[in-house]
Amino acid sequence: MFVFGYGSLIWRPGFPYTRKFNAYVRGFKRRFWQRSCDHRGTVENPGRVVTIVPTSEFETLQPSREPHDEDDDIVWGTVYCVKHEDSVAVLKCLDIREKGGYHREEVPVYVQGDLFACMATLYVGSVSRTVNTEFIGPEDLDATARIIACGSGPSGPNRDYLYNLAESLRSMSLHDAYLFELERRVRESTVSTDTQVCIKTKISDMEPNGTIVIDSGATQAISQKSKGLLPVGIRKVEGDFEEGSVVLVIDQSTNKKVSKGLVNFSASEIEMILGKHSKMIPEILGREAQECVISKSAMILT
Ligand code: SIN
Repeated sequence: MFVFGYGSLIWRPGFPYTRKFNAYVRGFKRRFWQRSCDHRGTVENPGRVVTIVPTSEFETLQPSREPHDEDDDIVWGTVYCVKHEDSVAVLKCLDIREKGGYHREEVPVYVQGDLFACMATLYVGSVSRTVNTEFIGPEDLDATARIIACGSGPSGPNRDYLYNLAESLRSMSLHDAYLFELERRVRESTVSTDTQVCIKTKISDMEPNGTIVIDSGATQAISQKSKGLLPVGIRKVEGDFEEGSVVLVIDQSTNKKVSKGLVNFSASEIEMILGKHSKMIPEILGREAQECVISKSAMILT
């Protein structure tokens, strides 16, 4: 028996086989359009894993353009040769592993040079939501990237699934424009999330060099709407600090701490722009500047 893998089976078959080779199926596109509640997510926070979508169905589902290769209705993967005596046990184990909306199909697989290699069994998630309740269909690539960057399930972090798949294809010298673009976005968002966590941890550990007193409108914008601190809501500055210092932000009427953060301006500059609209900052200071005195990403609520 031959088994074709185009997702996690490429790097973790998990069953006995005698040999494997790179091959492809025709007339499909690989997409992270399958919800995963049992491997890379949970029922509450489903992750995303790949399925292959017939090109004819794809055109109906997603007429818009996305990252694509010239040869983009073939999907490369790995074919495994399984001994006849192992086949029943292998399929039994794969049926359990792929129970999250996939069904078995027999498809022709080809090797480099467009040579027909064999008929192989693969697991595919139907595009019919009545057959496959885990099918998502077209999803904005940034939305998929956000879910993958944060998700995790019994088989591990969702991003590892994507990274392993992308790495495997690279090691086979194969290209997949959609997949590599998704990987780039997830890696980027993960780095920026890690950096933000890092910055916020530092802010909470640092002693403040000064205080900024703000009005109730600014307090509300920061605490309830998660906004940065604009100069228009500032009433008073205390202390002598430089741009990049950590300061405490206090509400004028309640005298309570609202937040703590890294300032984009020195104390003397804030004196000049307090109470003013952000668009006036370049004119007052004579230079281009951020519109927030403390950006949302550099602020922690206290
Ligand atoms: C799968 O086989 O569909 C997923 C396995 C994994 O997430 O590692």
